[in-house]
Amino acid sequence: MNPEIKKIDTDVLIIGAGGAGLRAALEISQANLSCLILTKSVLGKAHTVMAEGGIAASLGDVDPQDNWTVHFADTIVEGVYIGNYRMAELLAKEAPERVYELERYGALFDRTPEGKIMQRAFGAHTYRRLCHIGDKTGLEIIRVLEDQILYRDNVKILDETVVTKLFAKNNRAIGAVAWSLREGIFYAISAKAIIVATGGLGRIYKVTSNSHESTGDGISLAFQIGARLRDMEMVQFHPTGMVWPEGVRGLLVTEGVRGEGGILLNKNGERFMLRYSPEKKELDARDVVARAIYREIIEGRGTEHGGVYLDITHKGAAFIKKKLPAMYEQFKEFAGVDITKEKMEVAPTVHYFMGGIYVDPETTATTVDGLFSAGEAASGLHGANRLGGNSLADILVFGRRAGIYAALYAKDHDLIKLDDSEVEQEVKRVLDYIDDKATEDQDPYIIIEDLRQTMSDKVGILRDPNDLEYALNKIYSLKEKAKNVRARGSLTFNQGLLGCLELNHMLLLAELIVRAAIERKESRGAHFRKDYPKKDRSYLKNIVFDYNDNNIKMSYIPVPEIPDDLKKYVKEEVYD
Ligand code: FUM
Repeated sequence: MNPEIKKIDTDVLIIGAGGAGLRAALEISQANLSCLILTKSVLGKAHTVMAEGGIAASLGDVDPQDNWTVHFADTIVEGVYIGNYRMAELLAKEAPERVYELERYGALFDRTPEGKIMQRAFGAHTYRRLCHIGDKTGLEIIRVLEDQILYRDNVKILDETVVTKLFAKNNRAIGAVAWSLREGIFYAISAKAIIVATGGLGRIYKVTSNSHESTGDGISLAFQIGARLRDMEMVQFHPTGMVWPEGVRGLLVTEGVRGEGGILLNKNGERFMLRYSPEKKELDARDVVARAIYREIIEGRGTEHGGVYLDITHKGAAFIKKKLPAMYEQFKEFAGVDITKEKMEVAPTVHYFMGGIYVDPETTATTVDGLFSAGEAASGLHGANRLGGNSLADILVFGRRAGIYAALYAKDHDLIKLDDSEVEQEVKRVLDYIDDKATEDQDPYIIIEDLRQTMSDKVGILRDPNDLEYALNKIYSLKEKAKNVRARGSLTFNQGLLGCLELNHMLLLAELIVRAAIERKESRGAHFRKDYPKKDRSYLKNIVFDYNDNNIKMSYIPVPEIPDDLKKYVKEEVYD
């Protein structure tokens, strides 16, 4: 096989076409630079659309007492004090302007009777803060951002194109090799700056709200050229995903249902959140609600399909259809359940990754020169746990910043062309996975499914030390097996080949998740250890991973101290 290798030079390469990538592209285009966006999927299909219930911004349109200081404090407390204070400050201060900007781009937010932007309650937000478009907020954000960038001459988009390798010279990112599934060819892209906005890694787990693309590629690729990773143990379980039919297990049931008054019941009809969280009930933090649901299920008070009930029927059909149209359609279509008349069955689902690439809070620069990251691929803002709605604010606030600072970097630096022989070597590495004599047991998806099952069974909501050790050994043995995976066929739409490439990222990142989970011997936010059920002051720090000469090094870094002028807004952390 001798595939075509097309060369492209661009000022900025953006990997990922979710909200963060698209928002960054807008800045780069406005700075009169050229920008190439690569997406593994088709344009418009991003995990951004799975943030359904709203974007968090302290407009104070519904609760006038709200302001950025409260949003800032909520973010720090929800991150259980290991989030980066400067990122939280920037998010809280800049989110309102990003929402007004969306409005100017044409986003049709729900309105209060006075014509202001409607804001709904969400777990662990002090005030009603979630600006929304029914339960399709993420989808609307993608729609208006696409409108902004699609017809710009200096923005080029290649979809169904997967980056197989990033290149760096002397700790500077210089380009990428990508494989176009659609065209069956390769691209060698030289760029002055690169932004990784590839989202998270939920597909490492069996039960997840994430779609097929979320295999952590960008995080893994960045790590392999020297970008530091942080908080890898912090995987968020959204309390409510669908539990049946089997084909849609894990599909998100928006927190908007609880925000609009939905209540959780066990099979005995008990509103069990009154026991776990008498004050906040269903609107406590995601980790608290997810653990409560999980306990109900494992203690035998779950439903027929292994979930609990979520009931919003008391709000009436008209209200439900207006406020939660996507949920109404989703349950009707997939489960034959009319949520205006019947209860939903739900259980926790892996939804979000707080960990990821270490970035500078102002600029989103990673530890590799010229490499930036924003959105779920980046870490720091959410610490040990993320507030619902903060991800949409995150992608806009930090997507914009990534665009601004990558553009500045690109203006200041010359292009370094990729070396032809290194490109050819990478193309050969990918082609070596194609083998028409490949046997069934060389199918990468056998290992992928084994890994996903292991992560769901052993690295879940309540983490047991023996299970974590088991998972780590299993991952090591799967890594050995992964050396033999192969795919038949050509370079065009070859899912087997894609699986071979994704598998390596998934195994690497799963290893880091489990190693960090073993290392953090306490319970904090989304990370709950059965053997250390309490928070421990000595772990008020971030676990980071660095990669040098094929060696993975794990270490700790201190959480930057919150300065006094901000500390006054945040309640002091308490330990038992
Ligand atoms: O429940 C939801 O609508 C999800 C929102 C989010 O993850 O921010």
